[in-house]
Amino acid sequence: MTALPPLSDSVCPPRELADIEGAFARTLGESFAAELVASAPGRVNLIGEHTDYNGGFVFPIAIDRYIHVAVRPRPDRLVRVAARDRDDVDRFSLDAIARDPERRWANYIRGVAAELAAAGFALRGVDLAIGGNVPVGAGVSSSAAIELATARAFLAAAGADMPLPDLALLCQRVENRFVGVSCGIMDQFISALGERSKAMLLDCESLAYEMTPLPEEAVFVVCDTRKERALGDSAYNERRSQCEAGAAKLGVPALRHAGPDALAAAQSELDAVTFRRCRHVVTEIGRTLDAVEALRAGDLPAFGRLMDASHLSLRDDYEVSCRELDAMVEAAREAPGCLGARLTGAGFGGCAVALVRPADVEAFIRETAARYETETSLQPLLYAVRASGGVQVGPPARRA
Ligand code: GLA
Repeated sequence: MTALPPLSDSVCPPRELADIEGAFARTLGESFAAELVASAPGRVNLIGEHTDYNGGFVFPIAIDRYIHVAVRPRPDRLVRVAARDRDDVDRFSLDAIARDPERRWANYIRGVAAELAAAGFALRGVDLAIGGNVPVGAGVSSSAAIELATARAFLAAAGADMPLPDLALLCQRVENRFVGVSCGIMDQFISALGERSKAMLLDCESLAYEMTPLPEEAVFVVCDTRKERALGDSAYNERRSQCEAGAAKLGVPALRHAGPDALAAAQSELDAVTFRRCRHVVTEIGRTLDAVEALRAGDLPAFGRLMDASHLSLRDDYEVSCRELDAMVEAAREAPGCLGARLTGAGFGGCAVALVRPADVEAFIRETAARYETETSLQPLLYAVRASGGVQVGPPARRA
């Protein structure tokens, strides 16, 4: 299985750090040597989509792709941020943190600082340099990774820390209040608490979670459609409102508490769209729990079938797929070694994820990509991922 090199212990290799520091020096015109580096992973959700904000279950992994935030504390209250991949700089004072109406990326950092300050932490000014290899805007949660890495960077510079579940909740508030997306807790939680070689079954109501070892024979391949998520935020927020309206009609605090029977009994009271939205959520919660059982029993074909069913439900009932995601899932299902495939994350573009037999990973990637390109004229990006550890912070690893 050549597609997957072994994981290294240091998630920010010295060469990557040098590159990020170099970008800071270039954009701000002064040399920069980090005292600390915080790194947080992207994620891919294996099953349990659009269930988190309904109090349901999700089953994500943190992936071996990271956002790195290199930190140098300052003697004053200023924050300067250089973002390597954007070739852009942000500056703000900790005494007056406002949203930047123009630059969405800057709001992740400003929002983290604002929420940490609101939580009572006495932050210090810092210079930050950001880079990494989580594809941005591609459905693997680069935003949660930026939030988590930035939060730990600010805390470490101030000599503080907080429990990781609380940090995840704080970063979710950044997204909800500062960025303006009513997202659930999944992305921030897995980026905070992911573990190597394990997937996380997270109860999004109680935040209790259980790590489930992934068998060696399960390789997950991220299939990036390269179709940017169009109108993603407003459609996402709309889905969430529809679920809340459905739950209110059903007389439950969240759809998590409505089983298939209760939903069927209330069908005549719901309009057709709300009914389908609720049906997706209720059935997806069931599929997620069944999928975890299948995995624990070593039944990968059953896990794959549940992934396929999840995609159909997201496409037909929840209506968050698009032509490109459907084309990718269809191409994946015809390629060698594929046991199941579905869109992952919010939808409307972004990525699919496929479960593939290890011996077939290379052929799978080649054939899925070729078929997808013929169908859509877009060049996709497919890569196998490994379940990896969550956010970490420490002194930088430098070349000896
Ligand atoms: C986005 C959100 C998550 C979750 C997924 C859909 O990734 O950030 O909270 O709702 O969509 O499952």
